[in-house]
Amino acid sequence: MPAASNALQDILRGITRTIGASADRGRVADYIPELAGVDPDQFGIAIATADGQLLTAGDAAVPFSIQSVSKVFTLALALGKIGDRLWDRVGREPSGLAFDSILLLEQERGRPRNPFINAGAIVTTDVVLTGSSPREALGAILRFVRDAADDADIHINEAVARSEIATGHRNFALAHYMLSHQNLTNAPDLTLGTYFHHCAIEMTCAQLAMAGRFLIDAPGMPRLISPQRQRRINALMMTCGHYNGSGDFAFRVGLPGKSGVGGGILVIAPGKASIAVWSPGLNAYGNSKLGTEAMEALTTQTGWSVFG
Ligand code: DON
Repeated sequence: MPAASNALQDILRGITRTIGASADRGRVADYIPELAGVDPDQFGIAIATADGQLLTAGDAAVPFSIQSVSKVFTLALALGKIGDRLWDRVGREPSGLAFDSILLLEQERGRPRNPFINAGAIVTTDVVLTGSSPREALGAILRFVRDAADDADIHINEAVARSEIATGHRNFALAHYMLSHQNLTNAPDLTLGTYFHHCAIEMTCAQLAMAGRFLIDAPGMPRLISPQRQRRINALMMTCGHYNGSGDFAFRVGLPGKSGVGGGILVIAPGKASIAVWSPGLNAYGNSKLGTEAMEALTTQTGWSVFG
C-alpha cells in the first residue's frame, strides 16, 4: 500500500475508534419496522480514491438501506434521458425545509425546489419511468448503480419497498399534488412504486463508495456522465443534499454529500475520492448524526474541501 494510502487508512481507523466511543448516536428512523430494527451501534466508512484504491474501516461490508442516496443515481439517469428540460419540472434551489415537506409545493405550483427533496425525486423517477414499465425503469436504475460500482451484487430489499408503499402517505400526497399541476406523467402508484423500490436498494459502504466514483471527475474513473453534469450534480449535492441541514453539512464538511434516512451518506471529494459513511442514528434533520461527525473529522484531518 502506498504511504499516502497508509496515512488515510490510519485516519479511517482513528475515526472509527472515536465514533465507537460516542454515547449519543442519534435516533434510528422508526417509520417502518425494517429501519426501526437496525442496530444503532454499527458504523462503517469506505473511501474509493481516484488512484484506484478502496480503503475501509468498521462495518464497511454490512449492507444498509441507501434510501435517499439513490436520488443521486435517479437524477443522473433523468438528466441523461431528457437533459436540461428536467429543469422545467424541478428547481435547483435549497428548500430550507424537511425532505418530505409539502409547504412550498403549493406556493410554487407543483414544481419542487430541487431533485433531492422527496417531491423532486418523485419527478426525476417519473422521468425515468416514462415510456417503460416500473420493472424496466428499476432495471435501468439498478444497472446504472451496478455499472458505477462495478459490482453486480447490488439488490433491492422488497420488504423495505413494501413497507414504504404501505406507510408513504406523504409521498402519495406530494405525487397527487404534482399531478394536479400536470407535473407527473405516470400514475402516482406506478411512479411511487418505482421511487420506493429505488430507495430500498441495499449497499455496503464499500459498494456505495465505489458507485460514487462516477462523480469524482478524474482519469480512470467510470465515465457515465459528462464532466459538466458531474460538476452540476455535485453542486446540487452541496446545496440541497442534506435538506434543511445542507448549510450545516457544507460548513462542517466542506464537500458535496447526499444523505439517506437509513443513515448512509455519499460524499464526493472532486478529483480525489468518493466516500461512503454509514451510522443508522439520525440527527434532527434526518441525516446520519455520527456519519456527519465522521465526515467532519475526515475532512479536518485530510484538508479535503471544495473551498480551498
Ligand atoms: O421517501 C421516503 O420517505 C424515504 N423512502 C426516503 C427518505 C429519505 O431517505 C430522506 N433522507 N434523509
